[in-house]
Amino acid sequence: MDKLKIFGKANLKGFINIPGSKNAALPIMACSILSNENLRLKNMPNLLDIKTMQKLLKSFGLNFYSDQDSLTLNSKNLVNNVADYNLVNKMRASILVLGPLLSRFKKVKISLPGGCAIGTRPINLHLFGLKKLGAKFFFEDGYIVAKIKDRLIGNIINFPTVSVGATENIIMAAVLAKGKTKIVNAAREPEIQDLVKCLNKMGAKIKGAGKKIIEIEGVSKLNQAEHSIISDRIVAGTYTIAAIMLNKNFVVKNVNPEHLIKPIKILKKMGANLIIGKNHIEIKNSKLIKGINIETKPYPGFPTDLQAQMMALMSVISGKSKIKENIFENRFMHVSELNRLGANITVKNETAIIQGNNKLKGAQVMASDLRASVSLVIAGLYAKGCTTINRVYHLDRGYESIENTLGKCGPRIVRIN
Ligand code: EPZ
Repeated sequence: MDKLKIFGKANLKGFINIPGSKNAALPIMACSILSNENLRLKNMPNLLDIKTMQKLLKSFGLNFYSDQDSLTLNSKNLVNNVADYNLVNKMRASILVLGPLLSRFKKVKISLPGGCAIGTRPINLHLFGLKKLGAKFFFEDGYIVAKIKDRLIGNIINFPTVSVGATENIIMAAVLAKGKTKIVNAAREPEIQDLVKCLNKMGAKIKGAGKKIIEIEGVSKLNQAEHSIISDRIVAGTYTIAAIMLNKNFVVKNVNPEHLIKPIKILKKMGANLIIGKNHIEIKNSKLIKGINIETKPYPGFPTDLQAQMMALMSVISGKSKIKENIFENRFMHVSELNRLGANITVKNETAIIQGNNKLKGAQVMASDLRASVSLVIAGLYAKGCTTINRVYHLDRGYESIENTLGKCGPRIVRIN
């Protein structure tokens, strides 16, 4: 398993161009199952999870054509309706093929997605919504078997709690369903808005993306389309926090600051010196960054995917901070690892208390989930001495070869195979 060796007290200069969003690209790749025509995608990120989704879709019979700046998917010849355990257990987002597959097959078998470091990650809300559209489920040897009589039928689905993936699955399942579907208490993330923008280009009839109520009018077929994936707001937020932590002048380019309103507001309130452009964030060095209390919430609240990165920053600024994690029940795996680097963080139920003013010193640490891994990278860049991060495949799922991406801006990060 690869390791990363990070040389601390890193310099960071110049700028970084943010790639396409992993969490927009994954559902958009899954939605290609709904159409017999080509879907050409641009600004695709080059990540492990994208390759995993590609392998999964290929296993159903999708065809892929790629050129230097786009990936074209075609589902004309779907032949298989079973999502294999060995592919599904690599990535929870595999569950996003369930809704689209039910639009193409009357019976679908999909392995129960593995949990992951940030909690059990159930799929009850996905099944709740699909049942409302007429699907029946039973479980067999660790697989979910889903059946529909003839065609999914539009309905009203009132989610008891907000779920990004379940909202995406139902939107995709409703696109070719008979009649109208109304989703109440829908997730509002920009990645959902991008999925809907792409589906409407393909001929779907969806209104309300980004709001709590989304309405879908079923259509009979979808057409050829081309779509460019939005920029990754979490990767942009990650590198912004890194530049603030290292207190360097730096520019994060090719980002939509509209997707980071809450994190930018919090960082500015802490004292970060940010200049916000139309599609860039400029970080200037600042005199004093003070601690703050935040809690994670569904969009447009503070994103849980930036929680670990904020914790690294809060460990070295002045004063105490608190982070209440409301989305996942076990998303503090990075606390023990940050403490190994010299942070002073305690956890009480779903709240982490972070003492500031810590000097960090390099050490051996273990990556757990994707965003926890990157919080260790930015802490390692700040720390004195070398930090070695084990199990970096977590990192590769969401950050394009970080050693090269960041390496071009000054930091020295070496991958050890
Ligand atoms: C998406 O995961 C993202 N992944 C996550 O990003 C992100 O952290 C999360 O949304 C929240 O914003 C992708 O888009 C591929 P949820 P998802 O369904 O859809 C519970 C990253 O780092 N829940 O909104 O799985 C669930 O356990 C990843 O890129 C149920 O109880 O998130 C969690 O506590 C990590 N039943 C909460 O809801 C369900 O059926 C929110 O989960 C589904 C979810």
